[in-house]
Amino acid sequence: MNDNPIGVYDSGLGGLTVWRELRRALPRESLVYLGDGKNCPYGSRPAEEIRTLADRAVATLLDAGCKLVVVACNTATAAAIDFLRAKYSSTPIVGMEPAVKPACLNTRSGVVGVLATARSLEGDLFRRTAARYGENIRVLTAVGEGFVELVEQDREQTPEAEACVRRAMEEMLRRGADQVVLGCTHYPFLMPLFERIVAGHGVTVIDPSPAVARHVARLLDHYGLRAGENHAPQYRFLTFGDETYRRRLECKALA
Ligand code: DGL
Repeated sequence: MNDNPIGVYDSGLGGLTVWRELRRALPRESLVYLGDGKNCPYGSRPAEEIRTLADRAVATLLDAGCKLVVVACNTATAAAIDFLRAKYSSTPIVGMEPAVKPACLNTRSGVVGVLATARSLEGDLFRRTAARYGENIRVLTAVGEGFVELVEQDREQTPEAEACVRRAMEEMLRRGADQVVLGCTHYPFLMPLFERIVAGHGVTVIDPSPAVARHVARLLDHYGLRAGENHAPQYRFLTFGDETYRRRLECKALA
């Protein structure tokens, strides 16, 4: 048993979509969430810069006593996960893997769409995953231009947000995608828009967060790291931004 917290890290608010699934799936576990905030968005930054930011974030979470760290950021995973696992080899580090596998297993049209940041789509991880599961399947990609900024500025329920989402999905829907993977943890905050746009078209939009929470549960069992039966979970929120941003993280998480 281990009552230490699980660390969850993202460039900003996005990783809270994973945080809430972890809280749902693992109600006895304490969680420390670090949302950079100061350097968000990461999606167009050079990989080396993202590695430096991710290194500082994971070190901060380990200093906070975390027993396992979830890099709840596809962009940081793509740029830094191998580096982080090599440097912090004594700590289980979970990254985000684009949910291309379930999409490819479940497609009936043989066409799958992936929405992510530019950095994620350029990463080897995405290429390897698509190649591994996308045989005989057309995997279409699109950058969710402006999606991260919409969520960071609490504009995800505006007409501008709907126009942004429609623009990004137009091509993949026109070409018959019946599975759309959300390859950025910010994007599930736009789920009402996705669902409105695909309603009636037999298209499934996949948020990988529940699968990440199940994977963390398996790792806790594998390493004997579950919190004790009587542990009362605590939730902490850290940021590289200011106190206003830290409070935004807390409010959005607990809303
Ligand atoms: N939530 C991050 C992801 O999953 C967004 C990255 C960014 O800040 O652009 O990729």
